[in-house]
Amino acid sequence: MDAAWARADHVGGWLTQAQGRLLWDCARDLTPGARIVEIGSHQGRSTTVLGLAAQAVGAKVTAIDPFVEGAMFGGQSTRATFEANIAAAGLEDVVELLPMKSQDALVGWDQPIDLLYIDGKHDYWTVVDDLGWTEHLVPGALTLIHDSFCSIGVTSALLDQVLVRGRLRYLRRETTMAVFDRAVPTGADRRRLAGELPWFTRNVTIKAARRVHAAPVLRALGHDSPYDPY
Ligand SMILES: C[S@@+](CC[C@H](N)C(=O)[O-])C[C@H]1O[C@@H](n2cnc3c(N)ncnc32)[C@H](O)[C@@H]1O
Repeated sequence: MDAAWARADHVGGWLTQAQGRLLWDCARDLTPGARIVEIGSHQGRSTTVLGLAAQAVGAKVTAIDPFVEGAMFGGQSTRATFEANIAAAGLEDVVELLPMKSQDALVGWDQPIDLLYIDGKHDYWTVVDDLGWTEHLVPGALTLIHDSFCSIGVTSALLDQVLVRGRLRYLRRETTMAVFDRAVPTGADRRRLAGELPWFTRNVTIKAARRVHAAPVLRALGHDSPYDPY
């Protein structure tokens, strides 16, 4: 993991080292021939961690990203950066890029998936669509979801899928990166997810406070980072 992180940390994006370790540990548990699907790759920061772990165990990664235009994600120049980063990490034979929306890639997808990482578009509807990928998980496979408890869209989709529809079971988290498996949640599983809501409220309050420069609120919540919580 240390060598993988040294490589990934040069890549721009949104992934802490502790979150990278969680991805690494889950991917290293896979067996030869396994398939990882990543939704939302940006410049390849998380893809590099997943790809190096996959390379070590003989697995493959499918990275899905339409490289949306705009100041936030950078469009086609980000695709060029992604491809350069994957090549620099020696992962061209491990990582397959599908440069399209996850919803489009899901149409006609017919391969079993051993690990799913979701970090694409963060609105409620897209996250619900992205959770449709869990239909292809092999029994016991994990789904990791970034920004699970700092985004209104992601969190509301998770509440819907776990608490209302009972399709996923929340297992644990590293900061906002949460781990789920496909199982009907028990009452205790549901309470574990609901128990994260105060922390979610803190995180969205910080995001709002940052936008209106409410320094006393940020101090009171103990947030001293120049970034939104993730
Ligand atoms: C938060 S970034 C991903 C960060 C990346 N995982 C990392 O480690 O830095 C979100 C990405 O989702 C992509 N995206 C937006 N809409 C998408 C969609 N419908 N399907 C897949 N990816 C999408 C954006 O182009 C962007 O690159």
